[in-house]
Amino acid sequence: MLNFSFHNTTQIHFGEGQIQALRQAIPKTAKVLVTYGGGSIKTNGVYDQVVEALNEHVWFEFSGIEPNPQYETLIKAKDLIQEHDIDFLLAVGGGSVVDGTKFIAAAALFEGDDPWDFIAKGEPIKQALPLACVLTLPATGSESNSGAVVTRDGNKLPFMSPYVQPVFAVLDPSVTLSLSDRQISNGVVDAFVHTMEQYLTYSVDGKVQDRFAEGLLLTLIEEGPKALAADTKADLNVRSNIMWAATMALNGLIGAGVPQDWSTHMIGHELTGSYGIDHARTLSIVLPAVMKVCSKAKREKLLQYAERVWNLTDGNDDVRIQRAIELTEEFFKSMKMPTRLFDVDLGEADIDGLIEKLIQHGMLKLGEHGDITPEVSRKILQTAV
Ligand code: NZQ
Ligand code: ZN
Repeated sequence: MLNFSFHNTTQIHFGEGQIQALRQAIPKTAKVLVTYGGGSIKTNGVYDQVVEALNEHVWFEFSGIEPNPQYETLIKAKDLIQEHDIDFLLAVGGGSVVDGTKFIAAAALFEGDDPWDFIAKGEPIKQALPLACVLTLPATGSESNSGAVVTRDGNKLPFMSPYVQPVFAVLDPSVTLSLSDRQISNGVVDAFVHTMEQYLTYSVDGKVQDRFAEGLLLTLIEEGPKALAADTKADLNVRSNIMWAATMALNGLIGAGVPQDWSTHMIGHELTGSYGIDHARTLSIVLPAVMKVCSKAKREKLLQYAERVWNLTDGNDDVRIQRAIELTEEFFKSMKMPTRLFDVDLGEADIDGLIEKLIQHGMLKLGEHGDITPEVSRKILQTAV
């Protein structure tokens, strides 16, 4: 196992009715800015619950944070924060609202010229406003991690800072009942791929991490399709298991002390940045191709994955690996996700542009070995056509 330091400081309030916890969890003296997206929280009752829970607080609101949050939208919150002396942010929504709010939290106290610099130029984030969230879409893990992804002019880029780790997160699975099938699928597959990015690398004998990861994969394979099926989609236990699995998949636990890949994500971000494809739908296209192109480097782990996640014990090593990749694709298809560029109307002709973007964004040595060069990324995209 590799050396690591691990702590996760986000307090989780999990379960039905937990939005009420906001009343106690946010300091009474705080001036709160509630941030949200395009209005789903107004139609599913989440907004009303938040308003009720904050009736003893001073609060303001900022709406319109779009999926794949855009710099131009987020930066507008800065004036509001200054005008009202806001000192606490509450994100209510999916990963985009939480990520966008993380950006706002850091931008509000950024002392340089342009807050985009801490993303594009890696300028250090030295402070941020405290933030918390009410999560409405289980997927990204953003509710209890220190990462965020923001887009400016088609450049979709991640940043990380301990200052934007949410203080607490409310996870009420019942608020996910209003999700569309598309967003349910996106969430399950995003969480699945987060787990794979930290699992499908090379073995360092991290038994706890491996078995936690396998447990998450098995849970998502089992529960994901149930959240789409008519007779089980309203089952709160299904929603609870998906929600907790998605949080655990990217809260730092399974990635501590093991190598990590993230090439699927970095290549996927270019597909979203250039063509606006939903984040998770880029992952269901890219991951199978990464598994194929990198099967030599990932051989040992692919065999472990085949046996422990898919119960594949017959046939030689190559047969089991191939079958495990096929079953992964079948799982994505059962979640109604695309698995080829063709499925989202892209093809060979689009690859040059995507590779140019990867180079422009410094994505030159991806993967757990740093050997996924732009040429290997090209091979991956060609495999995904
Ligand atoms: O904007 P509203 O009206 O709220 O509607 C949203 C949005 O249209 C809707 N929605 C959310 N909760 C709902 C709901 N509709 C009905 N009922 C509910 N309960 O769903 C749509 C998509 O929301 P979004 O927040 O964009 O989805 P998701 O949570 O999948 O977040 C995706 C973003 O997170 C980033 C992605 O790149 C992408 O920008 N990621 C963040 C990560 C992190 N911070 O650690 C890691 C991930 O790998 C990912 O990159
Ligand atoms: Zn993701």
